[in-house]
Formats: sequence, C-alpha cells, structure tokens
Amino acid sequence: MKIFIDTANVSEIREAVSLGIIDGVTTNPTLLSKEKGTFREILIEICSLVDGPISAEVVSEQSEGMVEEARELAKIGKNITIKVPMSTEGMKAVTILSQESIWTNMTLVFSPSQAILAAKAGARFISPFVGRVDDMSHFGMDSVRQIVTIYENYGFDTEIIVASIRHPLHVVEAALAGAHIATVPFKVIQQLVKHPLTDIGIKRFQEDWEKVTKKTS
Ligand code: E4P
Repeated sequence: MKIFIDTANVSEIREAVSLGIIDGVTTNPTLLSKEKGTFREILIEICSLVDGPISAEVVSEQSEGMVEEARELAKIGKNITIKVPMSTEGMKAVTILSQESIWTNMTLVFSPSQAILAAKAGARFISPFVGRVDDMSHFGMDSVRQIVTIYENYGFDTEIIVASIRHPLHVVEAALAGAHIATVPFKVIQQLVKHPLTDIGIKRFQEDWEKVTKKTS
C-alpha cells in the first residue's frame, strides 16, 4: 500500500519524506488555508520535495471553470494531480481532463455508486472519506471495502486513496481492505511509528548496555 501525506505543511512533508515512506501528497483548500504563502508557492515547494502525485483541488462549481483551474494548476509541476469534487459537473471535468492526460483525484466520495461513476469518467484516483462518515456514527471503511471489490470485479484502473483518516487503525483497516493508498495526516504518521513496548524495550536495552560497558572482566 502506498502512503500519501495529507497536509500542505512543508515542514511536516520534509520530515515525513526523510522517513522514506511518502509516495505522494494530498492537499485541499482547508489545509492550504492553514499555511503561510500563496497556494502556488506552497505547491511549487511541495513538488520539489516529493516525487509522486500531489493533489491540488479546484473550487469552481461549473466544469468549464474546473477545467480552466486544472490546466493552470497542472502547469505548476508534472506531478500535480487535480482534485475534483464528486458531482455531475466534476464528472464532466474529469472526463475532459482525462482525455488531456491530466491526472485527476475525484474527492468527497462517500459511496460505492459515486466510486463506480468516477472510475467510468476516467478518474486516476478516488478519495473515499472515512473519518467524516465515522463522525456521523457510520462505518466509513464499509464503503472502501465495497469499492475495492467492485474495482476488482471489473478491473478498473482507478486507484483508491482512503482519505479523512483520523487514527492509526484507519490505516491498518485501509490496508486490510486492499485500498491502494492511504493519505495520512502527519500526526497519525507519528502515531503509527509508536508502540509503548518498543519504548520500554529501547530503554531496557540502553540500561543493560550501560551494565555491559561498566564490566571490567
Ligand atoms: C484528503 O484528500 C482529504 O481532503 C482529507 O483527508 C479530508 O480530511 P478531513 O475529513 O479530516 O478534513
């Protein structure tokens, strides 16, 4: 499973890249609004750090506007992937962009039916959101499992990016479901590394090593 980082924060991206686990980046307007600098400056810097798909989202409501925005965003870097919200207008935009070989990530996907249509329209990626569904007392990962089965049934090339991840178990569940990608906030990446028994083990080995070095014979 590939791991993308779900942030527009360049320091977080740099740190995560240094761990050798980052295959791509997803941003959205909310994430970009939290950072200093223009969206263009931020995306240029992210493109210089990560050699993988970098999602940048369009905000127009009509397909013509989405396509115009997408063409401009695509000029920022060869790895820019255009995030298009799921809607009839979004599907029209994805259809045009895929014919122009511009990669798209159909976002705000909440159901298998939307996922089928996104794949048919030629989306390179789809982003089913799990956390926002869990927040409403439903199981977001259920949709992911169904989408994986449907895409396997028909051999769709569209890759599934599990998004709106809130905690480490979402990543594990995404992997068990057979999703291609999980896009993970930096905080959750840090949580994934940690285990209390690892910390206890490291401390004990350090203490015992001190005893070893103090031995004279
Ligand atoms: C990524 O593609 C999504 O925009 C992001 O994961 C949404 O996460 P949220 O539900 O925590 O805002």
